[in-house]
Amino acid sequence: MEKIVILTGAGISAESGLITFRDEGGLWAQHRIEDVATPEGFARDPALVQGFYNARRVQAAKVHPNAAHQALARLQSEWPGDVVIVTQNVDNLHEAGGAEDVIHMHGSLDRALCATCGHRWAAPPEMAVGEPCPTCAEPTARPDVVWFGEMPYHMDEIYSHLSSASIFAAIGTSGQVYPAAAFVHEAQTAGSQTLEINLEPTMGASVFDDRLVGKATETVPQWVDRLLRQTD
Ligand code: OAD
Repeated sequence: MEKIVILTGAGISAESGLITFRDEGGLWAQHRIEDVATPEGFARDPALVQGFYNARRVQAAKVHPNAAHQALARLQSEWPGDVVIVTQNVDNLHEAGGAEDVIHMHGSLDRALCATCGHRWAAPPEMAVGEPCPTCAEPTARPDVVWFGEMPYHMDEIYSHLSSASIFAAIGTSGQVYPAAAFVHEAQTAGSQTLEINLEPTMGASVFDDRLVGKATETVPQWVDRLLRQTD
């Protein structure tokens, strides 16, 4: 049966109450990317960076999955083929909404990473600067999130899924950050039908075969209903 690969971005969590990066008043209007989302920024001012991610972790712990996260989980359980969810989001709202095996290509707020030995563990709600690694004891704990200039996670696995996808949907992402922004081309090369679901058409919208424009909590459940009706 047909495989569906779904890429999600900050827009899917917006109606849960997490602000996006590039919408008006978004995170990148309030913080400089090079200060809080690069290895160089962390080396310069680890307290600033830990504070930024601590605030996001606290916020993410307060919010709940919305109808779009839940609809994707339903699609995963009811679609007769594979449904692979790849997210750029560092929140855990897909899992909280019931989704399984979510691929977090930009890491996860609830994990910590040792910059010295690569060990990973559950992040406390507030990470402190110089926190020692539980394995090597070096004071180099950092959030397990991917920063600009670093390689996103699970890329081989993602490209392998894209190469066998029949349907590819990008949901709530502005398509401005690579490599995720190029997944639509990978999927098209593999012969997938491609769909963009977003509040408004993005700059790259014309690349997709189809578009659904509107709030994720409305458009995603409608799309899932339509797909599942085909299988009746
Ligand atoms: P952006 O903030 O760039 O884009 C969010 C998209 O969601 C925009 O196109 C909005 O129009 C759309 N949107 C907002 N509210 C929506 C809603 N209720 N329903 C549907 N769509 C909605 O976020 P991302 O594309 O996820 O990376 O950003 C990609 C990466 O850039 C992030 O993972 C992060 C960031 O810098 C790193 O930090 C490495």
